[in-house]
Amino acid sequence: MFDSHAHLNDEQFQDDLADVLQRAKAAGVQGIINIGYDLESSRRAVQLAEQNEALYAVIGVHPHDAKTMEAEVRSQLEMLGQHPKVVAVGETGLDYYYDHSPRETQKSVFKEHFDLARQLNKPVVIHSRDAAADTFAIVEENSDVRCVLHCYSGSLEMAEKYLELGHVISFAGPITFKNASRLRSVAAGVPMERTLIETDCPYLAPVPYRGQRNEPSYVPKVAEQLAELHGITVEEVHRTTAANTRHFFAIE
Ligand code: NI
Repeated sequence: MFDSHAHLNDEQFQDDLADVLQRAKAAGVQGIINIGYDLESSRRAVQLAEQNEALYAVIGVHPHDAKTMEAEVRSQLEMLGQHPKVVAVGETGLDYYYDHSPRETQKSVFKEHFDLARQLNKPVVIHSRDAAADTFAIVEENSDVRCVLHCYSGSLEMAEKYLELGHVISFAGPITFKNASRLRSVAAGVPMERTLIETDCPYLAPVPYRGQRNEPSYVPKVAEQLAELHGITVEEVHRTTAANTRHFFAIE
Protein backbone atom coordinates (compact mmCIF):
# COMPACT_ATOMS: atom_id res chain seq x y z
CA MET A 1 0.00 0.00 0.00
CA PHE A 2 0.97 3.64 -0.47
CA ASP A 3 0.60 6.79 1.60
CA SER A 4 0.13 9.28 -1.24
CA HIS A 5 0.57 12.43 0.87
CA ALA A 6 2.80 12.72 3.95
CA HIS A 7 4.99 15.42 5.49
CA LEU A 8 7.81 13.41 7.04
CA ASN A 9 9.87 16.50 6.27
CA ASP A 10 7.99 18.25 9.11
CA GLU A 11 10.02 18.99 12.24
CA GLN A 12 7.60 16.83 14.26
CA PHE A 13 9.38 13.80 12.75
CA GLN A 14 12.87 15.11 13.37
CA ASP A 15 13.60 12.95 16.42
CA ASP A 16 12.11 9.57 15.56
CA LEU A 17 11.87 9.33 11.77
CA ALA A 18 13.62 5.94 11.69
CA ASP A 19 11.00 4.49 14.07
CA VAL A 20 8.16 6.03 12.05
CA LEU A 21 9.53 4.48 8.85
CA GLN A 22 9.97 1.14 10.58
CA ARG A 23 6.35 1.14 11.77
CA ALA A 24 5.17 2.09 8.27
CA LYS A 25 7.09 -0.83 6.79
CA ALA A 26 5.71 -3.21 9.43
CA ALA A 27 2.17 -2.01 8.59
CA GLY A 28 2.75 -2.90 4.92
CA VAL A 29 3.29 0.63 3.56
CA GLN A 30 5.60 0.16 0.55
CA GLY A 31 5.77 3.74 -0.63
CA ILE A 32 5.34 7.22 0.84
CA ILE A 33 4.97 10.42 -1.17
CA ASN A 34 6.59 13.12 0.92
CA ILE A 35 5.25 16.56 0.13
CA GLY A 36 7.05 19.90 0.32
CA TYR A 37 5.27 23.08 1.46
CA ASP A 38 8.06 25.63 1.06
CA LEU A 39 11.59 25.65 -0.34
CA GLU A 40 13.20 24.23 2.79
CA SER A 41 10.72 21.37 3.23
CA SER A 42 10.95 20.60 -0.51
CA ARG A 43 14.73 20.28 -0.18
CA ARG A 44 14.25 18.04 2.84
CA ALA A 45 11.74 15.87 0.93
CA VAL A 46 14.33 15.33 -1.83
CA GLN A 47 17.05 14.60 0.71
CA LEU A 48 14.87 12.02 2.50
CA ALA A 49 13.95 10.40 -0.82
CA GLU A 50 17.65 10.02 -1.57
CA GLN A 51 18.19 8.28 1.76
CA ASN A 52 15.14 5.97 1.70
CA GLU A 53 14.07 3.76 -1.15
CA ALA A 54 10.38 3.87 -0.12
CA LEU A 55 10.18 7.68 -0.17
CA TYR A 56 9.41 9.96 -3.11
CA ALA A 57 9.40 13.75 -3.13
CA VAL A 58 7.00 16.46 -4.26
CA ILE A 59 8.29 20.03 -4.40
CA GLY A 60 6.38 23.27 -4.09
CA VAL A 61 5.07 26.09 -1.96
CA HIS A 62 1.83 25.69 0.03
CA PRO A 63 -0.82 28.41 -0.44
CA HIS A 64 -0.15 29.45 3.19
CA ASP A 65 3.39 30.38 2.13
CA ALA A 66 2.57 31.64 -1.36
CA LYS A 67 4.02 35.02 -0.43
CA THR A 68 7.48 33.38 -0.13
CA MET A 69 7.52 32.34 -3.80
CA GLU A 70 10.14 34.71 -5.12
CA ALA A 71 12.10 34.34 -8.36
CA GLU A 72 15.00 32.78 -6.47
CA VAL A 73 12.70 30.19 -4.81
CA ARG A 74 11.17 29.39 -8.18
CA SER A 75 14.56 28.76 -9.76
CA GLN A 76 15.65 26.59 -6.81
CA LEU A 77 12.46 24.52 -7.24
CA GLU A 78 13.22 24.14 -10.96
CA MET A 79 16.63 22.71 -10.08
CA LEU A 80 15.24 20.40 -7.37
CA GLY A 81 12.66 19.20 -9.89
CA GLN A 82 15.39 17.56 -11.96
CA HIS A 83 15.97 14.97 -9.24
CA PRO A 84 14.81 11.50 -10.35
CA LYS A 85 12.80 10.93 -7.15
CA VAL A 86 10.73 14.10 -7.57
CA VAL A 87 7.37 12.79 -8.79
CA ALA A 88 5.13 15.89 -8.76
CA VAL A 89 4.83 19.62 -8.08
CA GLY A 90 3.02 20.88 -4.95
CA GLU A 91 1.44 21.12 -2.66
CA THR A 92 -0.09 24.18 -4.15
CA GLY A 93 -3.63 25.52 -4.41
CA LEU A 94 -5.83 27.98 -2.54
CA ASP A 95 -6.67 28.29 1.13
CA TYR A 96 -9.28 30.99 1.86
CA TYR A 97 -9.97 29.57 5.32
CA TYR A 98 -6.69 30.76 6.81
CA ASP A 99 -5.76 33.40 4.21
CA HIS A 100 -2.11 33.29 5.36
CA SER A 101 -1.13 34.79 1.99
CA PRO A 102 -3.18 37.34 0.02
CA ARG A 103 -5.68 35.62 -2.32
CA GLU A 104 -4.28 37.25 -5.46
CA THR A 105 -0.81 36.00 -4.51
CA GLN A 106 -2.17 32.50 -3.86
CA LYS A 107 -3.80 32.46 -7.29
CA SER A 108 -0.74 33.63 -9.20
CA VAL A 109 1.56 31.22 -7.32
CA PHE A 110 -0.91 28.37 -7.96
CA LYS A 111 -0.68 29.16 -11.69
CA GLU A 112 3.11 29.27 -11.48
CA HIS A 113 3.08 25.70 -10.15
CA PHE A 114 1.25 24.61 -13.30
CA ASP A 115 3.97 26.26 -15.40
CA LEU A 116 6.62 24.45 -13.38
CA ALA A 117 4.75 21.13 -13.71
CA ARG A 118 4.52 21.58 -17.47
CA GLN A 119 8.21 22.37 -17.65
CA LEU A 120 9.10 19.28 -15.58
CA ASN A 121 6.40 17.12 -17.17
CA LYS A 122 4.99 16.18 -13.75
CA PRO A 123 1.50 16.19 -12.20
CA VAL A 124 0.31 18.67 -9.54
CA VAL A 125 -0.76 18.03 -5.92
CA ILE A 126 -3.57 20.40 -4.93
CA HIS A 127 -4.74 21.72 -1.57
CA SER A 128 -8.07 23.57 -1.57
CA ARG A 129 -9.94 24.93 1.40
CA ASP A 130 -12.97 27.24 1.25
CA ALA A 131 -11.93 28.08 -2.31
CA ALA A 132 -13.76 25.48 -4.41
CA ALA A 133 -14.84 27.66 -7.33
CA ASP A 134 -11.53 29.53 -7.75
CA THR A 135 -9.52 26.28 -7.44
CA PHE A 136 -11.60 24.60 -10.10
CA ALA A 137 -11.35 27.61 -12.45
CA ILE A 138 -7.52 27.53 -12.36
CA VAL A 139 -7.42 23.73 -12.74
CA GLU A 140 -9.76 23.97 -15.71
CA GLU A 141 -7.52 26.57 -17.40
CA ASN A 142 -4.63 24.12 -17.04
CA SER A 143 -6.41 20.91 -17.97
CA ASP A 144 -3.40 19.55 -19.88
CA VAL A 145 -1.71 18.92 -16.48
CA ARG A 146 -2.84 15.95 -14.36
CA CYS A 147 -3.90 16.76 -10.78
CA VAL A 148 -4.68 15.08 -7.49
CA LEU A 149 -7.12 16.85 -5.16
CA HIS A 150 -5.48 16.02 -1.84
CA CYS A 151 -7.39 15.49 1.42
CA TYR A 152 -10.57 16.14 -0.51
CA SER A 153 -13.35 17.80 1.49
CA GLY A 154 -15.52 19.33 -1.24
CA SER A 155 -18.84 18.30 -2.71
CA LEU A 156 -19.53 15.23 -4.86
CA GLU A 157 -20.70 17.52 -7.64
CA MET A 158 -17.30 19.27 -7.66
CA ALA A 159 -15.46 15.91 -7.43
CA GLU A 160 -17.33 14.78 -10.53
CA LYS A 161 -16.16 17.88 -12.41
CA TYR A 162 -12.55 17.02 -11.55
CA LEU A 163 -13.08 13.38 -12.54
CA GLU A 164 -14.49 14.53 -15.87
CA LEU A 165 -11.23 16.39 -16.53
CA GLY A 166 -9.31 13.15 -15.81
CA HIS A 167 -8.01 14.05 -12.34
CA VAL A 168 -7.85 11.87 -9.22
CA ILE A 169 -9.15 12.40 -5.68
CA SER A 170 -7.31 11.55 -2.48
CA PHE A 171 -9.00 10.90 0.87
CA ALA A 172 -7.42 11.20 4.31
CA GLY A 173 -8.26 10.70 8.00
CA PRO A 174 -11.31 13.01 8.05
CA ILE A 175 -13.42 10.33 6.29
CA THR A 176 -13.14 8.33 9.54
CA PHE A 177 -14.33 11.18 11.78
CA LYS A 178 -17.58 10.64 13.63
CA ASN A 179 -19.31 13.75 12.27
CA ALA A 180 -18.17 13.23 8.65
CA SER A 181 -21.18 11.48 7.12
CA ARG A 182 -21.38 14.04 4.28
CA LEU A 183 -17.71 13.47 3.40
CA ARG A 184 -18.19 9.69 3.58
CA SER A 185 -20.99 9.91 1.04
CA VAL A 186 -18.68 11.93 -1.24
CA ALA A 187 -15.97 9.25 -0.88
CA ALA A 188 -18.52 6.53 -1.66
CA GLY A 189 -19.39 8.37 -4.89
CA VAL A 190 -15.82 8.57 -6.25
CA PRO A 191 -14.92 5.41 -8.22
CA MET A 192 -12.14 3.38 -6.60
CA GLU A 193 -10.12 3.44 -9.82
CA ARG A 194 -9.79 7.24 -9.41
CA THR A 195 -9.18 7.24 -5.64
CA LEU A 196 -5.92 7.61 -3.69
CA ILE A 197 -5.41 7.32 0.07
CA GLU A 198 -3.14 9.40 2.28
CA THR A 199 -2.44 10.39 5.85
CA ASP A 200 -1.42 14.07 5.42
CA CYS A 201 0.68 13.34 8.51
CA PRO A 202 1.55 14.81 10.98
CA TYR A 203 -1.97 16.31 10.68
CA LEU A 204 -5.47 14.81 10.71
CA ALA A 205 -4.87 11.42 12.32
CA PRO A 206 -7.71 8.99 11.58
CA VAL A 207 -9.94 7.50 14.27
CA PRO A 208 -8.88 5.95 16.72
CA TYR A 209 -5.73 8.12 16.71
CA ARG A 210 -7.58 11.41 16.20
CA GLY A 211 -5.82 14.28 17.98
CA GLN A 212 -2.44 12.50 18.08
CA ARG A 213 0.46 12.99 15.71
CA ASN A 214 -0.43 11.17 12.49
CA GLU A 215 2.03 8.88 10.66
CA PRO A 216 2.06 6.65 7.54
CA SER A 217 1.43 3.43 9.50
CA TYR A 218 -2.12 4.76 10.13
CA VAL A 219 -3.07 4.87 6.44
CA PRO A 220 -4.85 1.46 6.69
CA LYS A 221 -7.53 3.20 8.79
CA VAL A 222 -8.45 5.31 5.75
CA ALA A 223 -8.47 2.17 3.59
CA GLU A 224 -10.76 0.35 6.06
CA GLN A 225 -13.28 3.17 5.86
CA LEU A 226 -13.23 3.15 2.04
CA ALA A 227 -13.61 -0.65 1.99
CA GLU A 228 -16.75 -0.33 4.10
CA LEU A 229 -18.15 2.47 1.91
CA HIS A 230 -17.52 0.61 -1.36
CA GLY A 231 -18.43 -2.85 -0.03
CA ILE A 232 -15.06 -4.34 -0.98
CA THR A 233 -12.16 -5.83 0.98
CA VAL A 234 -9.42 -3.73 2.57
CA GLU A 235 -6.89 -5.68 0.46
CA GLU A 236 -8.71 -4.57 -2.65
CA VAL A 237 -8.58 -0.94 -1.52
CA HIS A 238 -4.84 -1.26 -0.90
CA ARG A 239 -4.23 -2.95 -4.23
CA THR A 240 -6.28 -0.46 -6.25
CA THR A 241 -5.04 2.69 -4.52
CA ALA A 242 -1.41 1.53 -4.70
CA ALA A 243 -1.78 0.93 -8.45
CA ASN A 244 -3.50 4.32 -8.84
CA THR A 245 -0.71 6.05 -6.89
CA ARG A 246 2.03 4.41 -8.98
CA HIS A 247 0.22 5.32 -12.15
CA PHE A 248 -0.48 8.93 -11.15
CA PHE A 249 3.08 9.65 -10.00
CA ALA A 250 4.66 7.45 -12.72
CA ILE A 251 6.42 5.23 -10.19
CA GLU A 252 7.42 1.92 -11.74
NI1 NI B 1 -0.38 18.31 3.04
